[in-house]
Amino acid sequence: MKIINLNLGLKSYDIIIQKGLINNIGSEISKFYYNKKITVITDINVHKFYENKIKKSLEQYNYDVNFIIVSPGEKSKSIEVLTDVYRKLIKFGMTRSDLIIAFGGGVIGDLAGFAASTYLRGVNYIQIPSSLLAQIDSSIGGKVAVNLEQGKNLIGSFYQPYRVFIDPDVLNTLPDKYIKDGLGEVIKYACIKDSNLFEVLMNIKSKDQLFDNIEYIIETCCNIKKSIVEIDERDTGERMILNFGHTLGHAIEKYYNYEYSHGIAVSKGMYYITKKSEEFSITEPGTAEKIKKILINFNIDYELPKLDINTITDTIKLDKKNISNKINLILIKKIGEAFIESIPIDQINKYFGEII
Ligand code: GLY
Repeated sequence: MKIINLNLGLKSYDIIIQKGLINNIGSEISKFYYNKKITVITDINVHKFYENKIKKSLEQYNYDVNFIIVSPGEKSKSIEVLTDVYRKLIKFGMTRSDLIIAFGGGVIGDLAGFAASTYLRGVNYIQIPSSLLAQIDSSIGGKVAVNLEQGKNLIGSFYQPYRVFIDPDVLNTLPDKYIKDGLGEVIKYACIKDSNLFEVLMNIKSKDQLFDNIEYIIETCCNIKKSIVEIDERDTGERMILNFGHTLGHAIEKYYNYEYSHGIAVSKGMYYITKKSEEFSITEPGTAEKIKKILINFNIDYELPKLDINTITDTIKLDKKNISNKINLILIKKIGEAFIESIPIDQINKYFGEII
């Protein structure tokens, strides 16, 4: 068992990583939670695989368990689904001292975390992330939100979980396309903070080798995220480096109405922005080529899809993260060394003007 403590004063919590952890989740929870009621918020797919295991393990410790099951996918991060979640929490009689479990990928973590942060002005919740992306990124750091028609994550808060339980074994049931989705973000961590992780990833040549290294990969990424969140919980400085590749990546996702893999969009964004920063002699020569090679290694398409350039640059200009007509671009000097470059919005064509 690996335990990483994310130190945020009174809001500190442990991230616990162990294969097979799901089977003992009742025992783990009984170490800190002494009330009866637990609501597990999950999606249909995760529920199908794990309902029995989770329920059995929790009931062994005499918990009264209620499942709220939503459809998989981004559409569930809506005000309508959130309202339904609140109604079901009330119906089950959840009080402020009861516990919510967010058991699923990024969508479930965001939805359940936001419900927890607002229901009765806030109840404790734990994250049990079931996708690679959620295990290494979205379950950690307390960003929770739902979407509006106008954009993603427009209603949200920073609300830290009480614990994060990561069971790498649940990735065994994850379809390959979601593994690739998570790998895009794993590669991002290597690019921004850890050249050693980059080397390890470069030497992985099969899915078996990936799974042989999965605990090291998860632990390394969680440690990077922990150290960044500890410095900048509310995303006003250092935390922004987690957005490497995301400026273009988000624009691609929006262009395809969010029916595009986040990790793959980010991968293209990382490669493309590094090609540009290399052209401007900001980045060590050969770095973009290294990113291209690592993407090829994991069979992630690095080339850009066909895009209308004006739509893309308009999206980048209107990004909610822009502040005072400036955009914070994340660039790398070399593998493992990221920094923030603040540029005026009217200069974005310099970077994104000729992407097709
Ligand atoms: N996923 C980026 C962040 O947590 O800040």
